[in-house]
Amino acid sequence: MSNLENTILVDLARKLFRGCTNFHIEPDSVKLMTWSWQELFVDLTLRSPVIRKYPISTELSRIFLKKLINCIEPVQEVHDNLYAELCRAMNNSAIEDYCYRHYVISNDLNNIITMKETKNMVVNGTTGMRTWEAALMLSDWILCNKELFSSKDVLELGSGIGFTGITLAKFCEPKSVTMTDCHEDVLQVLCENVDINFPSHCKNRSSDGTTYELDNVSRVDVMMLDWNEMTDLPNKRPDVILGADIVYDPSILKPLCNVLQIFCDRKNDVNIYIASIIRNELTFESFLQVLETYNFHCEKLMQPTNAHIEWDHTHINRCLLKIMRK
Ligand SMILES: C[S@@+](CC[C@H](N)C(=O)[O-])C[C@H]1O[C@@H](n2cnc3c(N)ncnc32)[C@H](O)[C@@H]1O
Repeated sequence: MSNLENTILVDLARKLFRGCTNFHIEPDSVKLMTWSWQELFVDLTLRSPVIRKYPISTELSRIFLKKLINCIEPVQEVHDNLYAELCRAMNNSAIEDYCYRHYVISNDLNNIITMKETKNMVVNGTTGMRTWEAALMLSDWILCNKELFSSKDVLELGSGIGFTGITLAKFCEPKSVTMTDCHEDVLQVLCENVDINFPSHCKNRSSDGTTYELDNVSRVDVMMLDWNEMTDLPNKRPDVILGADIVYDPSILKPLCNVLQIFCDRKNDVNIYIASIIRNELTFESFLQVLETYNFHCEKLMQPTNAHIEWDHTHINRCLLKIMRK
């Protein structure tokens, strides 16, 4: 297979894996989607062991395959396996509360983070049940700056189902990663996602949360941490604090800053990185003002665009902040 054919295959596979149906194929590329290319595409995606074990949404694969077949049909003979997979997706009409999305890291189809998640914005009153664009943006930046996390104790606030913390634990060799959230259901799915992405681990449950002893990192903890419950903060002294898409509710800005302050009181020189998609300028401005009143200094960092992880960088309003004590 030529480099170009391989690039087209990986690019489309990446989109299918993460359930993205918004793709465009150039007419010149369709010419390269020969019978054998199509066969390989199905084998490496829908019939791959990881997708068989953790299937992507049938609704999204149906849309994806219809679109792909529509592109190929006028130019090439469509492979039976593509039709077979489309039929399979069409025959499965089960309602999907959850599905799996697979995020390809650094264009390597063998390097995948698999996430159990929903397609919905809000489930059971929480926004934490899906991976948000800010988590992808922050993780992309983390993978460009691995040295900042190597051998460090890292705490993530509002982890949701865990994409950022799992990526960090898998690729950056931190000393420990503590992933936290305030919602019981979210923490449960987060634990499932740690199980999926670190199949060989030693797991212990206690009243403090769940601890995983991993191969490449000393430990991963999954814990309840509610910014409104200051009495119950984990007994941790992180070097780095992370948060993706946690600045959206004006009522939690002060509680969030209280938490940052407490951890910065416990240890000097804590570096805090918060990634945001700015849906409401006023809320984000208020956050910057509250940080100022807590004596924090902010620096806006340059964000990579799809250096290691594909994310939608067309959001005009996004920001990656480095926050430190003045
Ligand atoms: C928009 S989601 C972002 C999830 C994840 N970081 C991501 O970007 O994919 C916001 C997360 O913050 C959590 N959260 C909201 N209020 C919180 C609070 N008071 N304490 C702790 N976590 C909170 C929610 O449960 C949810 O998981």
